[in-house]
Amino acid sequence: MAATALAPARGKNLEIGSFKGRSTVGIAYVTRELGLGRVAAVDPHTSPSSTDPDLRGKATSYDDFVDNLRTAGVLEQVEIKRAYSHDLAREWRDPIRFLWIDGDHTYEGAKADLDMFKPYLVDGAIIAMHDVLGTFEGALRVFVEEVLDSDDFGPAGFSGSIGWAQYRPRDGKRFRWRRRLLAVPARRLIPVARHADRGLRGWNKFLYKFWRPLAPHGDIPIRRLERLLRTAD
Ligand SMILES: C[S@@+](CC[C@H](N)C(=O)[O-])C[C@H]1O[C@@H](n2cnc3c(N)ncnc32)[C@H](O)[C@@H]1O
Repeated sequence: MAATALAPARGKNLEIGSFKGRSTVGIAYVTRELGLGRVAAVDPHTSPSSTDPDLRGKATSYDDFVDNLRTAGVLEQVEIKRAYSHDLAREWRDPIRFLWIDGDHTYEGAKADLDMFKPYLVDGAIIAMHDVLGTFEGALRVFVEEVLDSDDFGPAGFSGSIGWAQYRPRDGKRFRWRRRLLAVPARRLIPVARHADRGLRGWNKFLYKFWRPLAPHGDIPIRRLERLLRTAD
């Protein structure tokens, strides 16, 4: 959230995957308080992916989503897009300053979300992906291979299970070693996550507990983050 606020970039804030609005409320609140524009939130609200939360007998999460935004007082701050991300991508034309990916966590789904919207990231934009430092193999693999391994991105980090990075196509190479230090342990967690569909057990659990702490995922002091995110301009 701090990286979102500090990103020295102009453009839209886009959330892919809202469910009942927990992250939407946080992003809407920060962007409104700091005058960083509205949040477009795309979700068909039907939990279509195998990785989605259960709707517990309901047909949709839409009504709870709207109620929660209204209760939090941020309904006006959110442009609700009740659609699949690939449908939104067909009509999307706006530059993006913050991209939050928390939709389909399969490899194909998470990669498509990044591929479809990466062309709209402005220099200095922040992308953040939820559940990458956990047991979702697909989302983790996309973050490692498409973000940490790519010189299009500069500073990067983990905060809890969230992976974030700054889009820096002009000078991302300068941060290659920093990203690599995160990628080494994170890559080791990919096969662990692959075998964790029925929970972490035995040797797999040991590997998870061994490699996960080696990928730093605590808070970064705000001044340090501010320095890291400062672009050349
Ligand atoms: C993990 S939940 C999102 C959680 C939410 N960000 C939060 O903080 O509570 C995943 C959501 O992604 C949505 N989803 C799945 N596939 C999608 C797609 N292709 N495009 C947009 N949303 C999708 C599901 O409907 C579900 O509501």
